[in-house]
Amino acid sequence: MPQTAMPPEDEIFDLRYQRSQSDLWPMLDELYATHPGYDAFRKALDAALLKAWRARPADLRRLDLARDLEPDWFQRPGMVGYACYTDRFCGKLADLPGRLDWLTDLGVTYLHLMPLLKPRPGANDGGYSVMDYGRVDPRLGSMADLEAAARACRDRGISLCVDMVLNHTAKEHAWARKARAGDPRYRDYYLMFEDDAVPRAYEETLVEVFPDDAPGSFTYYEDIDRWVWTTFNEHQWDLNWANPQIFLEMTKIMLALANRGVEVLRFDAVAFMWKRMGTRCQSEPEVHLILRALRAACRIVAPGVIHLEEAIVSPGEMLPYLGRGRHDGKEGNLAYHNSLMVQVWAALASRDAGLMTHVMRTHFPDRLTNATYATYLRCHDDIGWAVTDEDAAAVGVQGFGHRAFLSEFYRGAFPGSFSRGAPFQHNPDTGDMRICGTTASLAGVEQALDEGDARALDLAIDRILMGHALIASVGGIPLIYMGDEIALLNDHGYLDVPAHAHDSRWLHRPKMDWDRAALARADPDSVPGRVLSGLREILGRRAEMAEFHGAHPIEILDAGNPSVFAFARHAPTGSVVCLYNVTEDWTSVPRDWAERAGMSQGVDALSGGTLAPGAGDIALPPYARAWLR
Ligand code: GLC
Repeated sequence: MPQTAMPPEDEIFDLRYQRSQSDLWPMLDELYATHPGYDAFRKALDAALLKAWRARPADLRRLDLARDLEPDWFQRPGMVGYACYTDRFCGKLADLPGRLDWLTDLGVTYLHLMPLLKPRPGANDGGYSVMDYGRVDPRLGSMADLEAAARACRDRGISLCVDMVLNHTAKEHAWARKARAGDPRYRDYYLMFEDDAVPRAYEETLVEVFPDDAPGSFTYYEDIDRWVWTTFNEHQWDLNWANPQIFLEMTKIMLALANRGVEVLRFDAVAFMWKRMGTRCQSEPEVHLILRALRAACRIVAPGVIHLEEAIVSPGEMLPYLGRGRHDGKEGNLAYHNSLMVQVWAALASRDAGLMTHVMRTHFPDRLTNATYATYLRCHDDIGWAVTDEDAAAVGVQGFGHRAFLSEFYRGAFPGSFSRGAPFQHNPDTGDMRICGTTASLAGVEQALDEGDARALDLAIDRILMGHALIASVGGIPLIYMGDEIALLNDHGYLDVPAHAHDSRWLHRPKMDWDRAALARADPDSVPGRVLSGLREILGRRAEMAEFHGAHPIEILDAGNPSVFAFARHAPTGSVVCLYNVTEDWTSVPRDWAERAGMSQGVDALSGGTLAPGAGDIALPPYARAWLR
């Protein structure tokens, strides 16, 4: 029993504070203790946490308790994610409940609505240029609508995920306007320089994100005679995270969104949050201190909420976002498995799984603590060929040549390519070219339909299903990108929209085609119908696979056959051997090899089929996917 007469609700807060304070204050001490305003900041942060807790609605407090009892909820094999733009999927937030049947039917338990806080007018980087974190984009509705949408999702067992852009605000944000007007308090919210000497010195080692249409990382404003740090577009001003006020402001915003019922916060572009001269200013150690402290603040006030950290970087740089070393189990709960996504497309183009096997085995641990991946084939962004020279060399391939091949292949220029993609941010200085396009168009559906080639169409659909079976089994929440479930093709309509025309990523951000969705349901033999029923089957079977729980280890296998990507998932109840043929040819693996790898009964849990008894080889048709128990 408590010694003091504390109100029981605040006692819960107190216990959670005690639990997480060692993840909070030591991080903040390291970051900000020498800052002149640190003592006031500490008091203000404590007050903000208590205030947010007291404002937390009863139903969300209940969710917190439930999640504290089941902390692995997001690692379970029944989790399926879906990502969409609200307007492109259903219209306004208020229209979302009317479309939730579609998601429930697919097995979705996690919905990422693309940026929906009030963006700047005009070009706004798909909503990632936010001018007011306290309001919803008026085109989509109000905060009350967001709350209602979150509740409608929760009633269906769907956790709502919302973007929170941490690295920058729109230059129209109230803070930025005050900074521009000369208010010293707000000038310290951003990174502003009186001349270009320091910016030039930083640029020696910075990497451009949008070399094509937003070159450089700084912008000069004549009216204030200042250079402002703008990593992304000119209208996105980088925040000064060395100022503890930014931590305080963002913590309040984070907890306010949590109190609206958002269950997953997607922290955008986190790698860029800390600047250090002489580096790429990406993934500096301080970024991890900040993210661990934000996680702790959330665990104190809203432990039902988890954090997805968006860092599209190399594997070695990405893993720390899921908490490594001293931060093990203490940082992000989710991070995008960009490397796997790249490797799947690379394997399909080269008809060789060797590089994927090497990368997955060399760079990724067999399990994570309190964390798992967000696995995906496509998202709203481009595909950058994140294949290092070292990894390529390890499998006898030349890195530069391989990356160039992948770009040529997926933009459809390489002889024999099945893909219809488009280039993004071609950088002639480095030879770098990223790729846009929907899953279906990249996988060959568009070309096969144009050419009326039935066999090519079968193969394209099998590529899509193989890819999804793979991301559904490797560990993590598989994210279905809106429209992929009905094989939506590239949408060239963006060229007619002035705010989009400069950004070919809109090629793969089509509007949901509800007629096609109806066809998919009504006719399982149609192209969208084949993809939809295939995906439903994969996700449905997956939900029953105890081995696919995110906490169970993965063992990357070498099938001795470059056409096959193979791994085993080991659960206390048994193992499953997963096989993927990344080519359009028949191939096989020896049965005794699969048995040594962990296959026991010889049953494919995905198709439900049983292997013929006896020795011999396991035959794998084109783009086979098998989950062998
Ligand atoms: C993230 C988003 C991307 C955006 C960038 C800048 O990478 O996914 O769409 O352009 O951040 O906010």
